[in-house]
Amino acid sequence: MSHRVNTVSRRVILGAAAAALGLPAQAFAQRRLKPTPSCDDGDDPTPPQTAGPFFKPRSPQRTSLIEPGMAGTRLVLSGTVTTRSCRPVPRVLIDLWQANARGIYDNAGYRLRGHQFTDADGRFRFETIVPGSYDGRTRHLHLRAQAANRRILTTQLYFPGEPLNRRDGLFNPALLMQTRNAGEQIEATYNIVLAMR
Ligand SMILES: [Fe+2]
Repeated sequence: MSHRVNTVSRRVILGAAAAALGLPAQAFAQRRLKPTPSCDDGDDPTPPQTAGPFFKPRSPQRTSLIEPGMAGTRLVLSGTVTTRSCRPVPRVLIDLWQANARGIYDNAGYRLRGHQFTDADGRFRFETIVPGSYDGRTRHLHLRAQAANRRILTTQLYFPGEPLNRRDGLFNPALLMQTRNAGEQIEATYNIVLAMR
């Protein structure tokens, strides 16, 4: 959101600068205003959200959370972890936990819980299923991201086009994944921006 505000205010300032120099405002603005990648906004790290009651430490290290007989639409979640200045961050611990297709968490064991580390280019990739909604919560994934010696980012990711998004008080559009149907499965991407340079 603040990105949009910044763009507008920058445009106003550039317009004034152009007028002072006797230049057409639009030409001046077009030369100076480039599209900004999200990790380069300077003020927009991935927003944190509550862990909720279902986090469990010591999840297994794995890239696939799918187990034999598990019901649900297959979901592949991938993304990159970067700093606010767009540097990829390797060896970030990404811990993912979620409800099953019926909206139920496994609190006794570790079904649909797992962690991995980002690769040398800051990338991660999980194979899992689409979680069900529950108790007024729209569909979401929980995750924690921890770079070495940094504070843990705890947040949640959301699915676009879900009717319950509008009624879930925790929903934040900044945490929407990009999703696309790929045959039998859904491919989702989300790039995490840590609050570090
Ligand atoms: Fe949850």
